[in-house]
Amino acid sequence: MDRPIGMFDSGFGGLTVARAVIDLLPHEDIVYIGDTGRYPYGSKPQSEVRKFARQLAWSLVKDYDAKAIVVACNTAAAAALDDLVTELPVPVIGVIEPGAKALVAATRNGRVGVIGTVGTVMSGAYDRAVAHTRVPVVLTTAACPGFVEFVERGQTSGDEIAILADRMLAPVKAAGVDTLLLGCTHYPYLARVIGQAMGPSVTLVSSADETAFVAREQLGAMGLLRQPSNDVAEHQFLSSGDIGWFADLGRRLFGPELAQAEAWAPPTTDQPAE
Ligand code: DGL
Repeated sequence: MDRPIGMFDSGFGGLTVARAVIDLLPHEDIVYIGDTGRYPYGSKPQSEVRKFARQLAWSLVKDYDAKAIVVACNTAAAAALDDLVTELPVPVIGVIEPGAKALVAATRNGRVGVIGTVGTVMSGAYDRAVAHTRVPVVLTTAACPGFVEFVERGQTSGDEIAILADRMLAPVKAAGVDTLLLGCTHYPYLARVIGQAMGPSVTLVSSADETAFVAREQLGAMGLLRQPSNDVAEHQFLSSGDIGWFADLGRRLFGPELAQAEAWAPPTTDQPAE
């Protein structure tokens, strides 16, 4: 099936998931939209994030003929995954359930943590997803406002971010977690700072790899994977913000395949996305 996999995030964060999907499924074409013109999502009301997520997902299906959607953003998945699964004519894969499964599988002491945006943490999506695994763990969650803004500015190290990390991670540290899920797709870019603040005995888990495995499994079961061939897969990157900045920082974070970015604009009317 030669149609692309559509992916979206509020900005650069979902590129961590795109990396994992491309590495695991190198024959698949990918269309990625970073909604950098409207980031951050984490501090916005759920209803607004849901509206954005529907616009992005429908655009990927209608304008780019996506055969499946990977919601590469925890905040958007927390706000809109159920709606998207119900209304879209293609399979939709989120990051929260795969992340929760990876988290409970990795812990040794049964005390686990999830960090994410205010929107994700307040939604309770991880509390539900971890409970759904039925693995008896004690979960501590913490919102880390400010982390996403550092990444979007291209600042992934330094004293400022280290000080913020120490402050934001205090609750999960105090809870004695041995495993911490980076429940925001931007956070893997801060893994060194977060790892330093948590200490070497804490395992950091990201949902990117697990989500890629779920995508392979689901698309494979539905017969939607592309047959391996010698054709080079196409990876298209779009942004609703400054496309020059998206290409420049994107290339730094993602790698040289992000050679250029194109413009994506949200619909101008408030008509239902579909
Ligand atoms: N990358 C997004 C996530 O996984 C959030 C970023 C934002 O706040 O815009 O939650």
